[in-house]
Amino acid sequence: KFGYTWEKRKDFMTTPELVTITKPDDWHLHLRDEIALETTVPATSRVFGRAIVMPNLKPPVTTVKMALDYRARILEYKPLNSNFNPLMTLFLTDNLDPDEAVRLSTEESVVAIKYYPSGATTNSDTGVTDIKNVYPVVEKMAELGIPLLLHGEVTEDHIDIFDREKVFIETILAPLIERYPELKVILEHITTKDSVEFVESQSSNVAATITIHHLLYNRNDMLVGGIRPHLYCLPVLKRNIHQASLIKAALSGSPKFFLGTDSAPHTKPEKETSCGCAGVFSAPAAIELYTQFFMEQNSLSKLEGFASFFGADFYGQPRNQEKITLENIPWRMPDQYQLGDVPTVPIFAGQTINWRLKDDIET
Ligand code: NCD
Ligand code: ZN
Repeated sequence: KFGYTWEKRKDFMTTPELVTITKPDDWHLHLRDEIALETTVPATSRVFGRAIVMPNLKPPVTTVKMALDYRARILEYKPLNSNFNPLMTLFLTDNLDPDEAVRLSTEESVVAIKYYPSGATTNSDTGVTDIKNVYPVVEKMAELGIPLLLHGEVTEDHIDIFDREKVFIETILAPLIERYPELKVILEHITTKDSVEFVESQSSNVAATITIHHLLYNRNDMLVGGIRPHLYCLPVLKRNIHQASLIKAALSGSPKFFLGTDSAPHTKPEKETSCGCAGVFSAPAAIELYTQFFMEQNSLSKLEGFASFFGADFYGQPRNQEKITLENIPWRMPDQYQLGDVPTVPIFAGQTINWRLKDDIET
């Protein structure tokens, strides 16, 4: 058994039967492409109003035209009764034309540019090799108010994988913000105390997303008693003091920290192998697990800001009008879903989750 490594609050009193919040958004999501969309789109659109769709396809999404074509493919798999609005991003390369940022600013549904250090993670080979190469486009983004989304890890061989986020902040992010203080920056899927403290110390132009798996787990959950490949993600899970800091940030009510699942499915054969892929497929239980987490932390009143308000506010998007309701009815997460005809293992596979989305057509 793994999960629930945080200490439950002693003052927890009663559990309500229903929790209703404004419809949430997922500010960091991988939907993949083609037949995978048949699984990934409904898994998110069943509950989230909008999602920031990551551009790390093969080949990566590097133009506004590619982003709009990808968005059209996504919408083909949107259930008829859903008004899910995928918000697209461009993949930043060393030679992205600043004019592409100008084009982006005229398209409502393409909203941000994603920085991957070259080689940092899945499909990131064509990422940025030196931050100086992208100064011209970053300058344009600062001018136009386009958020830069950061995979915050350096990739140098000699830097330990557990230190890569911290070194990124020191060597890349801090100087970048100093150079472009007007730039809107989101440090994605933060995993360390260092990131929490850095984001807190910065202006309101700097925010961070926090995944459910980095709140629920630390590296012991992944490594003690055997390697659990389905908990392997990037940035990799850190030690428990970092998890504790992320928990504090998520529950703090600070608008700088908001929900981004980083749900990133890989097939079971790609994960359960001698060199397994990084990524946790959390979309099928994302809001349920965030709700369970906030509940167990006796901080339910902080869920709605984190899940439904702060991200929209940061992106300058309207808050959703609709509501969703979760019921305190335990259900068992399936052992696997299908990505096309290949199985993929979700977070909490085969385990019980205490909160269930009301009227969820999926369950
Ligand atoms: C992501 C993926 O598989 O696309 N993997 C991950 O572990 N988070 C890429 C990413 O966001 O780093
Ligand atoms: Zn991601």
